[in-house]
Amino acid sequence: MKAISIGLLGLGTVGCGVVKIIKKNQDKLIHQVGCPVIIKKILVQDLHKERPVEIDTKVLTSNADEILFDKEIDVVIEVMGGVQDTKDYLITALRQGKHVVTANKDLMALHGSELLTVASEHGCDLFYEASVAGGIPILRGLVDGLASDRIKQLMGIVNGTTNYILTKMSDEGRSYEEVLKEAQELGFAEADPTSDVEGLDAARKMTILATLGFSMHIDLEDVQVSGISKVTDEDLRYGKQLGYTMKLIGYAHREGEKVEVSVAPTFLSNNHPLASVQNEYNAVYVYGESVGETMFYGPGAGSLPTATAIVSDLVAVIKNLRLGVNGRSAVTPQYPKQLKDNGE
Ligand code: NDP
Ligand code: HSE
Repeated sequence: MKAISIGLLGLGTVGCGVVKIIKKNQDKLIHQVGCPVIIKKILVQDLHKERPVEIDTKVLTSNADEILFDKEIDVVIEVMGGVQDTKDYLITALRQGKHVVTANKDLMALHGSELLTVASEHGCDLFYEASVAGGIPILRGLVDGLASDRIKQLMGIVNGTTNYILTKMSDEGRSYEEVLKEAQELGFAEADPTSDVEGLDAARKMTILATLGFSMHIDLEDVQVSGISKVTDEDLRYGKQLGYTMKLIGYAHREGEKVEVSVAPTFLSNNHPLASVQNEYNAVYVYGESVGETMFYGPGAGSLPTATAIVSDLVAVIKNLRLGVNGRSAVTPQYPKQLKDNGE
């Protein structure tokens, strides 16, 4: 099989991780997919910025068309973030017959259904495992691993930045501002960390999880959201004295045919399994009618963990290419919307 050419949109925290993993694990990739994987072009804003990866600067471009309309590029990996321009880029890529892998939960929570429709119309894969809980393979776990069950409840810590902040404030008595800055430096936080600390990032991920878990399209605007920006060290200290740990918890449950989703800072008893999830780690508890309790746990943010999920999606795309089944993969289903109380 000929080499697979990749166009990478973005070379920041996650993009650099993707480059590192493709280079470091090239032998394993070739063994798995039967051909070399080449990064042909990389879209960035600043062509002259210093990067923490070894890269031939000739592959850098600030013109997206050089990737989107390059007939030799088979797969576009999107790790630049943003919504409107990024959506336009990905729709163009799919219409050009390119398969897409993205880590962009903002985009998938808002426009996932439309993008998945365009992907299937053009026989393309659109995979987004890294968009929820970084390195944890939770989307495939839900869609494939628990395909035979009916999910009753999802409960999780799905934002690494806020979990990092709450852990350091509670265990080390450090200030909110200081720890937020550290989470930004470590590459966990979004470009604008407001979406992390106000719970919106977690709400986007819960929208994706609930849509897949309950086989029903969930609107982001229906999620009840509150964040951690008003949590004080006193709140955490008093909770601790009483045997409780505060976590930003995403919760989704199904009652009959109705699904409710929320995100809020929540006191958990110290012996609750989610209470011991620390730093940038995430965990998602899933209750299925037949399987009972399961829990998925691992690093929820950061360069290499997130890139692991992306490169695994890439492997899935290439395997589908070999089988000629792109656009029909199980992890990209589209579901009907749930009816609101007014019947709309
Ligand atoms: P960064 O801000 O570190 O990197 C963004 C990259 O995209 C930069 O290389 C930047 O170029 C480039 N870029 C941004 N906008 C444009 C544009 N308009 N045109 C061209 N290039 C552009 O982000 P992250 O790597 O942290 O995150 C990327 C995506 O992955 C986001 O969607 C994020 O939500 C998601 N994600 C992030 C995780 C993490 O732990 N960081 C985990 C899971 C998902 P330049 O370098 O020149 O400025
Ligand atoms: N800002 C996100 C977080 C990155 O902290 O969880 C991973 O999606």
